[in-house]
Amino acid sequence: MTIETKSCAAARPLKTCATAAELPLNQILGGDCIELMNSLPESSIDLIFADPPYNLQLKGDLYRPDNSHVDAVDDAWDQFSSFAAYDRFTQDWLKAARRLLKPHGAIWVIGSYHNVFRVGAAMQNAGYWILNDVVWRKSNPMPNFRGKRLTNAHETLIWASKEEASKYTFNYEALKQLNEGVQMRSDWVLPICTGHERLKNADGDKAHPTQKPESLLHRVILGTTNPGDVVLDPFFGTGTTGAVAKMLGREYIGLEREAAYREVAEERLSRVRKFDKEALSVTGSKRAEPRVPFGQLVERGMLRPGEMLTNNRGQMAKVRADGTLIADDVRGSIHQVGAALEGAPSCNGWTYWNFKRDGKTVPIDLLRQQIRAEMS
Ligand SMILES: C[S@@+](CC[C@H](N)C(=O)[O-])C[C@H]1O[C@@H](n2cnc3c(N)ncnc32)[C@H](O)[C@@H]1O
Repeated sequence: MTIETKSCAAARPLKTCATAAELPLNQILGGDCIELMNSLPESSIDLIFADPPYNLQLKGDLYRPDNSHVDAVDDAWDQFSSFAAYDRFTQDWLKAARRLLKPHGAIWVIGSYHNVFRVGAAMQNAGYWILNDVVWRKSNPMPNFRGKRLTNAHETLIWASKEEASKYTFNYEALKQLNEGVQMRSDWVLPICTGHERLKNADGDKAHPTQKPESLLHRVILGTTNPGDVVLDPFFGTGTTGAVAKMLGREYIGLEREAAYREVAEERLSRVRKFDKEALSVTGSKRAEPRVPFGQLVERGMLRPGEMLTNNRGQMAKVRADGTLIADDVRGSIHQVGAALEGAPSCNGWTYWNFKRDGKTVPIDLLRQQIRAEMS
């Protein structure tokens, strides 16, 4: 099959590609996403972000109290004849997407109460393994103009791996730092896309009715991919996924049926610049850092057998030749002796003990960091 691609000003045909090396990286492909995904090589994509049609089933026009018309999502691409038709479409694109994912790949799907329950069930039926659902709470939601229901102030994202055994990417520390040192939770308060970020057409109207905020994609892509990973969005719209992926040094592939949206996305992406290398390196997982046994500090003469370590209360322990400590009648690892002195079930000996050099008190963790720096 041939696919229309719009990676440059004019559309040109693209052949079905069989290997990951032939992936149409950093391009927007025009056409139906299911056909397009079926033409791409299997097990070639690290992350899929999908913002599919919501099947809003809007009945009639909606007006604000001042009689102005609400620009709701009533486009043909969001219309399905029945729930059964929507379910068939959902099953088909989810199947095509799963074939594309690498064994350790993952997917994010965003939806509203109109579709997210159907999509979630279809994901589980298709073999995906749900990792979390995230509530995106909109800090500036549209009011409920008719006053007949609650203000619909959130959307739901489902994060799932290709299968239960997948070793999916999760940059725990980076997300924790993004959240000022506090573990990232599954409720995200972020504004909807407004102001200068909202793309407009020549008439000054919204270029797309459901443009997502870049902040949402920043969190998703930073937290669940690494630089150089390939991120595919089968419902590209204005290309929010591509724009954030490009800024963060990831590769993207966008699939979009409507030529007008592809043009908007193409223009947007041409203006996006990748952040510099230093800005892109994020806090890694502590668990991923190489393990340094305390004994190595003794073997290497950084601490001598017989040398005294102190805790912050001035209590002392002696370093032994095998890398254990002895304090009064307690002996064991730096962690065990620290825990015994504190009467605590556990203790991080690396941050608990200090040694003396040139009259100064220095944490032993500094010596571990020196060894780690040599290893990297
Ligand atoms: C909810 S919007 C995505 C908006 C996008 N996340 C953004 O930030 O701009 C869904 C998009 O999917 C496109 N679409 C719908 N059905 C499609 C299909 N079968 N194949 C490709 N694109 C499709 C629509 O044209 C629409 O732009």
